[in-house]
Amino acid sequence: MGRIIEEIYVWRLPVRFYHWINALCMVVLFVTGMYIAAPLLSPPLGEAVWYKGMGWWRYMHFVFAFIFIANFLFRLYWALFGGDKYARFGGFRPWSPSWWGKPFREQVESYLFLRTDEPNYVGHNPVAALAHFVFIFCGSTFMILSGLAMYGENNPGGFNETLFGWMIPLFGGSYTLHFIHHLGAWMLPIYVIMHLYAVIRHDVVDRTSVTSSIITGFKHKVEEEPV
Ligand code: HEM
Ligand code: HEM
Repeated sequence: MGRIIEEIYVWRLPVRFYHWINALCMVVLFVTGMYIAAPLLSPPLGEAVWYKGMGWWRYMHFVFAFIFIANFLFRLYWALFGGDKYARFGGFRPWSPSWWGKPFREQVESYLFLRTDEPNYVGHNPVAALAHFVFIFCGSTFMILSGLAMYGENNPGGFNETLFGWMIPLFGGSYTLHFIHHLGAWMLPIYVIMHLYAVIRHDVVDRTSVTSSIITGFKHKVEEEPV
């Protein structure tokens, strides 16, 4: 066993704020995005001019999109320059064979209940780091670039179209980009199911209070370096 630490402050306030703002934005963007794709609520009878249903859902999508973008940029800044040991990009080296080796394999085995002793990290474990890189970093980057390109279509020749418009021909047109942005949205429920399984399972199996750590900042009984 590695060194046991009774209580350690892992997630600083900026990271916790980022987490919950990001979670809220993603849920709102998913729901409003699905409404844009398939409006469930049809307007009651009357003159169409009085019903701004779709306009409201699209407006909400864009309001939360810009909060989401600002929050994402803040987290990038914090990962690169934040001076926060557990929230930096520092330890994340998926290109290195040592990273993919034993620690990664052991963590996957433990998630699948194929081993009894539990690796127990202070910050993100290697599987969590990879999941966040693929789903949250790459996923958000794609959703932001494609979203801003589609948003730019509102104002041809404007700021967004000039900066991000290249995404539309790259993906073969506006319709296909809508479709791929839509497919990208479905990454969210897949990620959330895996994420909640992982964090709640940690609490149940190793009692390190991982789940509440993203609210309080503290984890309990964690090992500095699992062996
Ligand atoms: C987690 C992030 C996001 C999710 C889950 C999401 C989801 C969706 C979905 C499902 C659609 C409907 C696509 C279709 O079938 O036509 C959509 C449309 C759209 N989204 Fe997003 N989106 C996200 C982020 C963004 C961002 C950051 C922007 C940037 C402004 C954005 C801008 C747009 C635009 C412009 C449309 C097209 C609206 C229209 O054609 O009326 N989205 N989004
Ligand atoms: C849409 C919903 C959610 C999304 C998109 C999401 C996303 C994330 C991301 C990106 C991180 C990494 C944080 C960072 O390093 O900046 C994270 C960590 C974490 N999240 Fe969530 N989260 C969601 C919901 C939740 C919920 C509902 C809970 C609690 C019940 C939760 C508990 C945690 C915990 C405990 C961590 C730290 C995990 C660790 O020790 O490595 N998350 N989440």
